[in-house]
Amino acid sequence: MRRLRRTPVLRRLVAETKLSVDDLVAPLFVREGLSGQDRVPIDTLAGQYQHSIGSLVAEAQQLIGLGIPALMLFGVVEQASKDDIGSAAFDPEAIVQRAIRALRESCGDEIVIMADLCIDEYTDHGHCGVLRSPNAKRLGNRIQQAPNAFDNSELGLEVDNDATIELYKKIALAQANAGVDVVAPSGMMDGQVGAIRTALDEAGYFEKIILSYSAKYASTLYGPFRDAVEVSLGANDDRRSYQQNPANRREALLEVELDISEGADIVMVKPAITCLDVIRDIRLASEVPVAAYQVSGEYAMIKAASQAGWIDEESTVLEQLLAIKRAGADIIITYFASDVARVLGR
Ligand code: PBG
Repeated sequence: MRRLRRTPVLRRLVAETKLSVDDLVAPLFVREGLSGQDRVPIDTLAGQYQHSIGSLVAEAQQLIGLGIPALMLFGVVEQASKDDIGSAAFDPEAIVQRAIRALRESCGDEIVIMADLCIDEYTDHGHCGVLRSPNAKRLGNRIQQAPNAFDNSELGLEVDNDATIELYKKIALAQANAGVDVVAPSGMMDGQVGAIRTALDEAGYFEKIILSYSAKYASTLYGPFRDAVEVSLGANDDRRSYQQNPANRREALLEVELDISEGADIVMVKPAITCLDVIRDIRLASEVPVAAYQVSGEYAMIKAASQAGWIDEESTVLEQLLAIKRAGADIIITYFASDVARVLGR
């Protein structure tokens, strides 16, 4: 076996998997209230920023220069702009819509513009859906008299699937109107892909692509992201009633099957490195492009260990992205996108 491993060119010649800049999507954050070229460093994601629209556009131009084919946009708003239904997600003048318009104007079709489609960044409770209280009827007018006198456990608050989907349709249309190429629903509501496809088609947006976060596991690895978008989810609150249980593997195939039948063009698995088996299963079971999201916690762990001098950042990143690709991902969303593009371009 060692004959084919003797020299670097030989190893290159027989490599089964190759990482390319064409595989990469860069996630970017745009924050309301910043002006000019201002950007705010994100403490939990060393090297990543909350951008003003000006600095976002400059960053997108850099990505184009590096040959990166796509970016994924996330909005960040002030606490005062949040409400219980996440209106800042679908307001035509909201930060994400303004950012999409600015990117489209400056970048044309040189980079694929993807946008996260969810409300958790914009709700005052931090959930990906609207809440309802199944106990409200029983609590009756006591609740009307003093709505704030009850805590969450008394109200038994839960995420309302179908009411949430109505909001997702509005977000899809707002992003489409602004000029997005790809909407990426990440809230894990049942039926979200079908509803969004219908809403887009009815408005004549036949060409808009749906990249579905199909197999999204409830993971601690989203922690640094939640700081990046200043999410309001309480410390003891979680998303286990809508995101997948990490114990389950077959369930991911069912999620993907449903999403494809509802019209998903691309399906995604997330996190990446803890779900290589799932990526593999989906690659073998379906013919649509498969994306994997190397999430904030995966990025932060590599950054922290390399900053401590315990691992080499560049080779660790290349090894992990290669493993994600080898598992079967066609597309990798990673905060290391620019760094990797520079390395691959050397
Ligand atoms: C939800 C969303 C999340 C991420 C992407 N979209 C957060 C969550 O579900 O808690 C996480 C991305 C990352 O951790 O890098 N809008």
